[in-house]
Amino acid sequence: MNAPVPTSNFLDRFESRLRASLTDPGHAEREPRVLLEASEHLAFAGAAKRMRPMLVDHFGAAVGLDGQVRLAVATAAELIHTASLLHDDVIDEGTERRGRPTANVQWDNSVAVLGGDLLLCIALEQLYDLPRPVTRTAVDLVAEMTRAAMLEVQARRERNWDLGEWETIAVGKTGSLLAWCGTASAIAAGRSELAERLAGCGRHLGLAFQLTDDILDLVGEKTGKDRFADLRNANPSFPVAFVRSHDGELRAALDELWATPTANDDDLDTMAAAIVDSGAPDETLRRVEAHLDEALSSLGEFADRPGGEHVAAWADQLRNIARHSLENS
Ligand code: FPP
Ligand code: MG
Repeated sequence: MNAPVPTSNFLDRFESRLRASLTDPGHAEREPRVLLEASEHLAFAGAAKRMRPMLVDHFGAAVGLDGQVRLAVATAAELIHTASLLHDDVIDEGTERRGRPTANVQWDNSVAVLGGDLLLCIALEQLYDLPRPVTRTAVDLVAEMTRAAMLEVQARRERNWDLGEWETIAVGKTGSLLAWCGTASAIAAGRSELAERLAGCGRHLGLAFQLTDDILDLVGEKTGKDRFADLRNANPSFPVAFVRSHDGELRAALDELWATPTANDDDLDTMAAAIVDSGAPDETLRRVEAHLDEALSSLGEFADRPGGEHVAAWADQLRNIARHSLENS
């Protein structure tokens, strides 16, 4: 998914700031260097979308946030995201990310976990010169992401989740960081009264992204082992959660599938077709649209102003991607 154009050359300035944060002699000249090598390997992979920094730029423009402060918040957001991916790939035993081998594969789990820890420290350092509440909200954010990641591991293990668990995990894992882009931008700009509105916009955008990803897992053009990855691994996804909450028969069939170690690709195909027939993907699309509407209504009058209009364009783009994924399925 591409994001809309950010304000003039923000991304170039962001890339320099990100690189400076990782080449700061306070860290870069200290052993063991492998932790920063692994971090750079992921942070500067070409396929990184820089969605969070751009969101900070857009929110920052909407609330008149100073350019340097905007870069600091954007860098912190991207580093928190990168740290969470280093950890996530250890948890999920991921092998490829952003077109490169994951750090846990290229190096090992210790490097990936400790590299993520160091990145998290560097992320928080970016906020030292900003008002204290910005750092406090960042710490709260990391705690929320951490709890959500563990809830997801437990859900996958216990295989007993439905819509309630899905929502808690999606808000914590994805919505919270996009929400923080709004919170931090508003607080750092001295416009705390707007923090909840911008956070709401980010959170709803995050949920819309997560839902679109969930649709694509079910009806997207994936092949091989990747196809139906969520379904195969009992990984909480909205369409499956919807079915589990609303259709007792399908829930029982899913329980049986997940309890059958010999389940094969044909079994997965049959289950995926039943979930599609139940109307879950259409319901997922309805939720995408509802979250995008909420994101726009949180923006209110800012939707027509600089920065806000980029966010609104972004929401439109995501709406189209979600609609097309269903049309072409
Ligand atoms: C990707 O999810 C992972 C996340 C969105 C966040 C994971 C959060 C943690 C591991 C908690 C620790 C947090 C910090 C800040 C260190 P995914 O597995 O659904 O997506 P993927 O297909 O891209 O792997
Ligand atoms: Mg993962």
